[in-house]
Formats: sequence, C-alpha cells, structure tokens
Amino acid sequence: MAGRVEGKVAFITGAARGQGRSHAVRLAEEGADIIAVDILENIPTAAYPMATKEDMDETVRLVESTGRRILPIKADVRDRGQMNDAAAAGMAQFGHIDVLVANAGILSFEREDFAAFTEVFGVDFLGVVNAVDAVAPHIPDGASLIITASTAAMLEGTTDRMGPGGMGYTSAKRAVARYAHDIARLFTARRIRVNVVHPFNTNTTLIQNDLMYKTFRPDLENPTAEDAIPAFAATSPMGVPWVEPLDISNAVLFLASDESRYVTGMQLRVDTGQMLATMTAGVAG
Ligand SMILES: NC(=O)c1ccc[n+]([C@@H]2O[C@H](COP(=O)([O-])OP(=O)(O)OC[C@H]3O[C@@H](n4cnc5c(N)ncnc54)[C@H](O)[C@@H]3O)[C@@H](O)[C@H]2O)c1
Repeated sequence: MAGRVEGKVAFITGAARGQGRSHAVRLAEEGADIIAVDILENIPTAAYPMATKEDMDETVRLVESTGRRILPIKADVRDRGQMNDAAAAGMAQFGHIDVLVANAGILSFEREDFAAFTEVFGVDFLGVVNAVDAVAPHIPDGASLIITASTAAMLEGTTDRMGPGGMGYTSAKRAVARYAHDIARLFTARRIRVNVVHPFNTNTTLIQNDLMYKTFRPDLENPTAEDAIPAFAATSPMGVPWVEPLDISNAVLFLASDESRYVTGMQLRVDTGQMLATMTAGVAG
C-alpha cells in the first residue's frame, strides 16, 4: 500500500534529534525521502547543547531502516548561503523538494545579556525565513511548507518571563506565526500550503535539561525531571507534563500529505488544551 507521502521529498531543519528526527522518521515511514539539515555545533546562549554528528548518524540510520533515502547536511539556518546550498544539494540528489518542515529552534535561559534576544531570534525567526527562501525557488505547485512555532507564541507569561533569551523565543515564535499567515496568501494560486504547528511541552532536550527543571521548580536547589513533572503537568488541562515528538510528527504528516491539500494559513495547536484553558479563564475572569 502506498504511504501517505509516497514519493515526496521533505527538507527538514533541526533533523538530527528531537522533533526533527521524529518528523524525518515518520515521513520516511510513509514514503518520503529526507533532506536532513542541522547545525551540529553548540550555540553560546542556548542553555543546553545542540545535536551532534552522532545524533545525525542515528537519524540517518533510522530513516534508512524504513527503506527510504536521506541526505544529511551540516548547516546553520541563520546562514542564507548555507541554506541555499543545502536546498541545491537536495535538488541535485533527489530532483525535487515537496515539503519543508522549518523546525530548527533554540531556547535560551539567558537573563542578563540582551544579545541572547538577537541570537534566539536569529535561529527561531530568521532561520525559518531562510529555510523558506532556500526551498521557494524549487518547490512545485501543491507543495507544503510547515513551520514549527510554539504555544509560547499564543500565551502570556511563559518563556517571555525568562529574560532576553526567553523573550527572544516568544517574539520569534509570534513572528513566525504571523509570517506564515502572511506568506500563505502569496502561494494560494499555486495551491502551495503554509501552515504552523504549535507544540506544547515536548519530550526533547529543549525541556529535558537542568535549567528548565529549575525554571519549573525554583523552590528546589537541584531539581530532577521527576521533581519537575507535577509543575509541567499543571500547565496542561489534560494533566500531562509533555507530549511526545511523535504527537507533533503526526500533525506534520497530515500537513505534509495531500490529505491537507486545501488546508492553508492554519495555526495548528498540539497543546493538550492549554490555549483553550487560557481562553476560558479569560472569559470567566
Ligand atoms: N520541546 C518543546 O517543549 C517545544 C515546545 C514548543 C516548540 N518547540 C519547538 O520545536 C522545535 C524543535 O525543537 P525540539 O523540541 O526538537 O528541541 P531539540 O533541541 O531537541 O531540537 C532542535 C534541533 O535544532 C537544531 N538546531 C538548533 N539551532 C540550529 C541552527 N541554527 N541551524 C540548524 N539546526 C539548528 C539542534 O541542533 C537540534 O537538533 C523548535 O523550533 C522548538 O522551538 C519545542
């Protein structure tokens, strides 16, 4: 039986681990070949390490184990030249790019140095714009552009409370949400869709790190993941501390497939009802 994205080629940023890896594997399981981009180097103001060459090797192994092809590329989404080269290399290898998943992103916990705002914004907003610009000359009619934002784009009092680094995150996520809405209109005549996925806390390094545990449990000196679980879960009306990368990948798969061929300009939350609860509270209050 043909897969849900059989024969498509997906260009995925931040694909060496976490959600990006999960998207690569899920799309490959459903018949797509993958162009996997990742920086594979640390970024100073990110409070946790970026993916490694070994992480990318594991993504390659997992995709190839589905029987599909993958082209791993070391590139920084902030660098337009590197992104254009990555798209050109993908075209040379596969001959077409049908899906973009602009997923690479960082969170910073920097509370003093305002330069952190610029660094996070550079990855989380300009990195998305660069990815769209890089694939835009190549994508055919009917292509799908998918952008990863965050529920932080829609809520007050989340990462925006965390100093310049966290504020850079919130601002970038709000900006990509609006950017996608705006550029979606440019593509409708060609039936190219542009949609945003907004994940809730997701079980990846971005939240599974000591600084995040401390953010959720400031009352403890050295909180562990287990200590932080109740505080994470308190932000979810469904009472879950986090969702799994696969929960986001299944939304991405729908948007990448022709099942969503008339869906564009959408802001798709995978948030366990977090936003709904906020809106309800707002109405009640
Ligand atoms: N984990 C969460 O709770 C959560 C919630 C909402 C949104 N998000 C968003 O989901 C996306 C994926 O994050 P994740 O949860 O998988 O975290 P992650 O840190 O595991 O993965 C991010 C990946 O992006 C790569 N990357 C970072 N900067 C890059 C750059 N400049 N160029 C190329 N690659 C780069 C990293 O090396 C890493 O492999 C991000 O945009 C993040 O903001 C995450």
